Amino acid sequence: MFSKNFYITTPIYYPSGRPHMGHAYSSIIADIFARFKRIDEYSVMFLTGTDEHGLKMQREAEKKSKDTKLFCDELSLTFKDLTKTLNLSNDDFIRTTEKRHYKAVEEIWNRLVKSKDIYLSKYNGWYSVSDEAYYDEDEIETKDNIKCAKISGSKVEWVEEESYFFKLSGWQDKLLKFYENNPKFILPLSRRNEVVQFVKKGLKDLSVSRTSFSWGIPVPKNSKHVIYVWLDALTNYLSALNFPNTEDKKYKRFWPATVHIIGKDILRFHAIYWPAFLMAAKVPLPQRVYGHGWILSDEKKMSKSLGNILDPITIITNYGIDQLRYYLAKEVSLGNDGNISLESLKNCINNDLANNYGNLCQRVFSFVNKNCNSKIPSFGKFQSEDTQLSNEIIKQIPNLKKLMDNQDLNLYIKELINFSFNANKYFNDLEPWSLKKTNSERMNTVLYNILNQIRSISILLHPIIPDSTNKALDILGIKKEDRVISKIANLKFLKPGNIIKKANILFKKIENDN
Ligand code: MSP
Repeated sequence: MFSKNFYITTPIYYPSGRPHMGHAYSSIIADIFARFKRIDEYSVMFLTGTDEHGLKMQREAEKKSKDTKLFCDELSLTFKDLTKTLNLSNDDFIRTTEKRHYKAVEEIWNRLVKSKDIYLSKYNGWYSVSDEAYYDEDEIETKDNIKCAKISGSKVEWVEEESYFFKLSGWQDKLLKFYENNPKFILPLSRRNEVVQFVKKGLKDLSVSRTSFSWGIPVPKNSKHVIYVWLDALTNYLSALNFPNTEDKKYKRFWPATVHIIGKDILRFHAIYWPAFLMAAKVPLPQRVYGHGWILSDEKKMSKSLGNILDPITIITNYGIDQLRYYLAKEVSLGNDGNISLESLKNCINNDLANNYGNLCQRVFSFVNKNCNSKIPSFGKFQSEDTQLSNEIIKQIPNLKKLMDNQDLNLYIKELINFSFNANKYFNDLEPWSLKKTNSERMNTVLYNILNQIRSISILLHPIIPDSTNKALDILGIKKEDRVISKIANLKFLKPGNIIKKANILFKKIENDN
């Protein structure tokens, strides 16, 4: 039935700590792209889940004297709940402790062995448990007598143990060639350049197994070793499609993935290791890795000691999920680090949601309720000012799709808020309240046209603020299956005489002392 397929993933969360704004951001962004493709009538697969193996999880469980698996079960649930709180539309939630995932990881391992990309040796070097990453001597520094990774600031420890290695060095030229042939594989371009520079400096073979702890997937035929948590975790993108069954309809439909949305801190794993593993395992490569920036609070990285943590759950409780989704998507420039604060959250809710889109819906619905018997009015001949308004959106649709294909989310939102601003202006300029006295047929046409414009804007805003736009579209009586981009061009879609339901305020204005 579907000719267009779209597979989008978020990084599967480490469930060790409490969900924070960074987690919320990564997932909300991916959800917006997934929802956009659904309104563009793609067959969409949107994946998230939990990354549960590795020394970090084992140590956390030990600290709490809990069985590691039971500990993971509890924590994974917290993150599953988060997907509901954030109103994510994920089609699956994968856990790396699931059987289906083990099967996929074992297959990848066996393929790497078969292609002779794996050999047994000894690892002597630095490892950060917090990042679950290996670091070279030149990537670490000493701070207050503690050795830390420069890139993340997290503590590193010395590791000496037998380990299997992946021949990453052998993939350097092939990776560079791949980046060159696929200039949009890594976006934004600044991150692509970072990766290319890093690879050009030379790649060392990568330790891909550990023997000093047991919480992981055992290496096939040598269970003294567990598979390195990143080789394990990255494979989740395949396990959710029932790999290694490459005849499975999910795999056939959705692999290679369209885009992996990730934070910039895990770029190296996704843009270097992952494509190298896949090439070696003879699995086609994903089409894109998009590395978004960091969320900062008051210009600084959020941290407990600075006391500048904005907790997503508290914000959602106080202001609403659509408010948080809209704010993060609008105010943080997707490829860059972005500062967030309560002050700018409130301004954004007031300016864009309450005063602009919310106000548009509220005033038009109330006016129609009062003056048209709560029914969609009939319309006469459209005048140029009417078609100018509606054409503005219709003409922009190809561009809007292109923006979303390039993950230009901020520009997309800007366009939409502009449409809403212009619709408000149209309503002000044409003064249906005056027309009521002088030319009721013209009033009806203007109202019909602006109701239709609300329909279009609501469809296009749906990926960002799904709950509120659903309310607006419910009021207009639009069926679920008609909430799609292809129906926007039909300017006579609304049926005169159909009921306009009573409208409640979509977005309350936030007072300053709130
Ligand atoms: N488990 C790994 C991902 C494995 S994917 C095969 C992981 N998990 S995480 O829970 O630490 O991070 C989840 C996502 O949140 C990542 O995309 C990470 O970049 C993002 N963020 C964590 N803190 C962040 C900010 N302060 N700002 C924006 N996103 C950041 O990494």
